[in-house]
Amino acid sequence: MQIEAYAVVGDDDRIANAAGEMPEALKNDAEWAFFQAGLDAAQVTVLGRASQEATPNHRRRRRLVMTRSVRDLRSEGDTVFWNPENIDLSVALRVFQVDIDRVAVAGGRDVFDHFLSGPDRYTHFHLSRVAGVALPGGRGVFRGVDEEGLSAADILRRAGYVPASPRRLDDGVEVVTWRPQPS
Ligand SMILES: NC(=O)c1ccc[n+]([C@@H]2O[C@H](COP(=O)([O-])OP(=O)(O)OC[C@H]3O[C@@H](n4cnc5c(N)ncnc54)[C@H](OP(=O)(O)O)[C@@H]3O)[C@@H](O)[C@H]2O)c1
Repeated sequence: MQIEAYAVVGDDDRIANAAGEMPEALKNDAEWAFFQAGLDAAQVTVLGRASQEATPNHRRRRRLVMTRSVRDLRSEGDTVFWNPENIDLSVALRVFQVDIDRVAVAGGRDVFDHFLSGPDRYTHFHLSRVAGVALPGGRGVFRGVDEEGLSAADILRRAGYVPASPRRLDDGVEVVTWRPQPS
């Protein structure tokens, strides 16, 4: 199964500003189209509870929402609330009752950290960057950005991923896809 993450950051590897919100400066039409195409290609989107609340599900996509507020799983229509501490991803996905060959991981920070290693690690991590944007005091794409002062690239490399060449999405906007180092 493909597990593909989509994150957009500024120059300082942050996904949200100091208020915990995704600022307008990070929003770009071409990057949004790239992200939406990724979600469309997946049968399920995985996201954190805060992101779920911040983004209404207009497209009625199947969402697997990570939260510690449930013991294991709870279904609400197209949305399944999931506590990964107590249930494996493969078991959680069965609740949707569809064949799944791709999931998209949409963040935020601790959700991006969750799939960096272990049996359900990323097959692809698409890291988009909008040049010229800084979000001081904001939320890093990974915990290590905030707590260890590392770059996203350092963290991905440390976790065993290697980057492809950057692809231009728009003026000043590019995406680098990271994949596990071939063994
Ligand atoms: N630029 C980007 O690419 C991007 C991507 C995503 C989000 N964002 C923005 O970032 C902001 C929110 O991101 P965020 O990092 O603060 O929050 P988030 O990841 O969307 O949600 C955090 C919540 O997810 C749950 N969670 C996270 N890891 C978990 C784990 N291992 N096990 C169980 N539950 C877990 C917890 O929910 P409970 O508290 O319910 O237990 C936690 O409080 C929003 O403004 C959003 O728009 C930006």
